[in-house]
Amino acid sequence: MNERKKVTVPDLGRWRESGRRISMITAYDAMFARIVDEAGVDVILVGDSVGMVVQGHSNTIPVDLGEMVYHTRNVARAGTKALVVGDLPFGSYQASSQQAVESSIALTKAGAECVKLEGGVHVADAIAAITRVDIPVMGHIGLTPQSFHRMGGHKVQGRVEGYEAGSRNRLLEDAYAVEQAGACAVVIEGVPMELATEITMKVGIPTIGIGAGNGCNGQVLVLHDVLGLSESKLKFVKHYADLRSSAVSAVQRYVDEVGSGAWPDADHSFK
Ligand code: KIV
Repeated sequence: MNERKKVTVPDLGRWRESGRRISMITAYDAMFARIVDEAGVDVILVGDSVGMVVQGHSNTIPVDLGEMVYHTRNVARAGTKALVVGDLPFGSYQASSQQAVESSIALTKAGAECVKLEGGVHVADAIAAITRVDIPVMGHIGLTPQSFHRMGGHKVQGRVEGYEAGSRNRLLEDAYAVEQAGACAVVIEGVPMELATEITMKVGIPTIGIGAGNGCNGQVLVLHDVLGLSESKLKFVKHYADLRSSAVSAVQRYVDEVGSGAWPDADHSFK
C-alpha cells in the first residue's frame, strides 16, 4: 500500500521555495508507472521519448497525439501518487493556440494532470491559452528534441552568445517567456550547467534539468536509461542498473530450456 500523499501541481512551486528537490522520470505504461511510483518518484512524465524508446524511431517527431493519449491513459490507470505529466507531441500545438488547447484537453481527459510542450518565446501564446482553461503547463527549453531538424540533431544548446534560437541570451528569454505565460515549471535540457543554474536563479518557477547539471530544482531522466535497458552512452545518462543484461540472460536460459526439453518441468505442468 502506497501511503504517501498525492503529488499535486502546487507542490512543485512549494518544493522549489523550500529547497526540496524534485525527481521526475518517464513511464509509458501502467506497470512501469506502478514501479516508479513505488520507488517514490515525484513526477511521472509520459514523454514523447516513447517514440525512440518504445517505437524505435530515431527522433520524437513521428509521435502523434493519439499515441500520447493512449500512453497517458495507460499510465493514469496505474493511479499513482506521483503527478502525471503528459507530453504534447510535435504537430499537436504549433499550428494555433486553439489546437494547443484542444490537444491539452485530450491529454487531460486521458488522465494527464499537467501537460508539457517544447519551446520558449514562440510557444508563449499557446502556454497562456492552455493555462486560461486551467490546464497546468510545464515548459521545455534548451535541447528540445522536436526541433531535431533545426538543431541538426540532438545537440547541446546555449553555448554561443546571441539571440538566435538555441543561443545563450535567447534561452534566458525563452525561460522568462515560459514563466510569464503561466507555466508551472520548466524542463531545461542539454545546456551548460552554469546557464541552467543562472536560469534557475532568475526565474520564479521550478526548473527540472536533464543534461543541465546540478543547479536545477529537480532532475528528469528516461526510465529505460536509468534501468540500463537502453544502450544509451550519452554523457548525461546514468544506468542505475543493468536490466538489459539480466533480460538477455533470462531469455537465453528460457530458449536453452525449451531447446533441451527441460521446460516445462513437472512442477509447472498440470496433472
Ligand atoms: O519525452 C521525454 O522523455 C522528455 C524528457 C527527456 C524531458 O521530454
